[in-house]
Amino acid sequence: MTGTSPTRNLTTSAFLAMSLDGFIARPDGGLDWLLEAGADLEDTGYDDFFVAVDSMLIGRNTYDIVAAFDEYPYAGKRVLVLSSSLETVEWSDATVHRSLNSALETLAAEGRRHVYVDGGTVVQQFLRAGMLDNLTVSIAPVLIGFGIPLFGPLDSDVKLELTGTRELPAGFTQATYRARPPG
Ligand SMILES: NC(=O)c1ccc[n+]([C@@H]2O[C@H](COP(=O)([O-])OP(=O)(O)OC[C@H]3O[C@@H](n4cnc5c(N)ncnc54)[C@H](OP(=O)(O)O)[C@@H]3O)[C@@H](O)[C@H]2O)c1
Repeated sequence: MTGTSPTRNLTTSAFLAMSLDGFIARPDGGLDWLLEAGADLEDTGYDDFFVAVDSMLIGRNTYDIVAAFDEYPYAGKRVLVLSSSLETVEWSDATVHRSLNSALETLAAEGRRHVYVDGGTVVQQFLRAGMLDNLTVSIAPVLIGFGIPLFGPLDSDVKLELTGTRELPAGFTQATYRARPPG
């Protein structure tokens, strides 16, 4: 990134669960495989991670899934939703952004320090742009065959630095990487 990047003072992190074959949800968004495989999961580190971020940047598909939850999971966080189709969102302290640049400029203008990036396509954009600092992936011991992929096509290789691994209950493996190129 150059010195003029709107993310130069912003830490960007993603924290996702993935099937061993690389999917974050079934084609219809279903997470039954994850809830079933992870029924005995205890502390995944998510709570500490969530406390450490001051804002969230999510894609519209993730928004749609979360909007249907009984309980709002982002209380106390500034939320930016990327979408070309949504006009507004009803959550408090949440806004819609038509482009990644618009969202990044807003985060910079508001002085946000640490954003939680979520949604497959959104994480992919950060990886492609070399703008993701931390990527934590909890790999579920299940193959689901089809679904929404965490990773996608690339114009060039993205090299990551492994910063931690641990075994979780229920056969999960968690790996954390630094994805932003040095410098
Ligand atoms: N397993 C996990 O840990 C985990 C974590 C998060 C999400 N999920 C699941 O993953 C699924 C969502 O991931 P996804 O990859 O399908 O979608 P997503 O990244 O959440 O959302 C994609 C949508 O976001 C909007 N968008 C993305 N980039 C944009 C940009 N640069 N400018 C404007 N709009 C942009 C577009 O919405 P418009 O079409 O409105 O333009 C696009 O269709 C859900 O099923 C969710 O439950 C799983």
